[in-house]
Amino acid sequence: MSSILAIGIATLDIINTVENYPQEDTEVRAIQQRICRGGNATNTLVMLSQLGHRCSWGGVCVESPEGKRILADLALFAIDIGPCRILSEGTVPTSYILLNQRNGSRTIVHYRDLPEFSWADFEKIDLSSFEWIHFEGRNVEETVKMLQRVRSCYPNLPVSVEIEKPRVGIEALFGYADILLFSKGFAMSQGYFDAPTFLRAMRQSYALNSWSCVCAWGDEGGYALGSEGRLLHSPAYPPPQVIDTLGAGDTFNAGIIDSLCRQQDLEVALHHACQLAGEKCGRMGLLNSE
Ligand code: ADP
Ligand code: FRU
Repeated sequence: MSSILAIGIATLDIINTVENYPQEDTEVRAIQQRICRGGNATNTLVMLSQLGHRCSWGGVCVESPEGKRILADLALFAIDIGPCRILSEGTVPTSYILLNQRNGSRTIVHYRDLPEFSWADFEKIDLSSFEWIHFEGRNVEETVKMLQRVRSCYPNLPVSVEIEKPRVGIEALFGYADILLFSKGFAMSQGYFDAPTFLRAMRQSYALNSWSCVCAWGDEGGYALGSEGRLLHSPAYPPPQVIDTLGAGDTFNAGIIDSLCRQQDLEVALHHACQLAGEKCGRMGLLNSE
């Protein structure tokens, strides 16, 4: 069991299941609606907590009914919110999600109007008891400062950074991570249509020679380039029926972090992450969540 801190967001997810993905400017009826907590960092923590780790979240939340719902869900999974900033007013980040019953695809419209977790918030956290820190790749300028603090004060503390969406200057985060967790969406936004070419290009362009880079690739599973430059691949582990892919990437990331915390090698981690994410895709929501 490791003590893990993740910095990133929690959201309110309003998920409407539809029979088919609708055409623009039409009206369709949802066949099911589910409202729950979401957000990459907290999704990953919820999985890590179920895998037996002691988890803490650093992020921003609000004292509204929606914010309390989010915090209650985190409490169910024993996630410590000590490092968080809780505002008395504001709107929690909200995702309006269409879940296509036919293939489990999820289409997300995300609204946010809440301050980001800042360097000033991060500076207050006592990092000495953590054995792993995971960052969502967002809020680049402040996150760089957080990463610099970890690197200078705790050089042996392993750090993972998730690079999921293209954001201005995001490559400034690359060099601080021990392990970079890229998404297929990010790779495609950079003009790459296969993971091996993408990973090799990242390694070369940013001289990531001593770092490990991982990239989840939907139903093709996951790929990784270890620090010695060997390409690794795990196929996906498809469930009997793909029901819900929302949070598959966050679950995959939890699988990688879980294995590496247990000193397993990257190849084992890749298979474990795909197994866990595949199992998640076969059910609604994250494992055992609301
Ligand atoms: P994201 O949630 O960021 O869109 P991906 O779609 O790349 O993430 O999925 C993450 C992981 O989830 C993949 O590496 C794979 O292991 C698993 N996964 C995703 N879609 C499927 C699927 N249709 N069948 C089986 N596994 C899947
Ligand atoms: C899934 C997810 C959702 C959330 C959205 C935020 O990966 O974390 O739970 O609404 O992405 O980008």
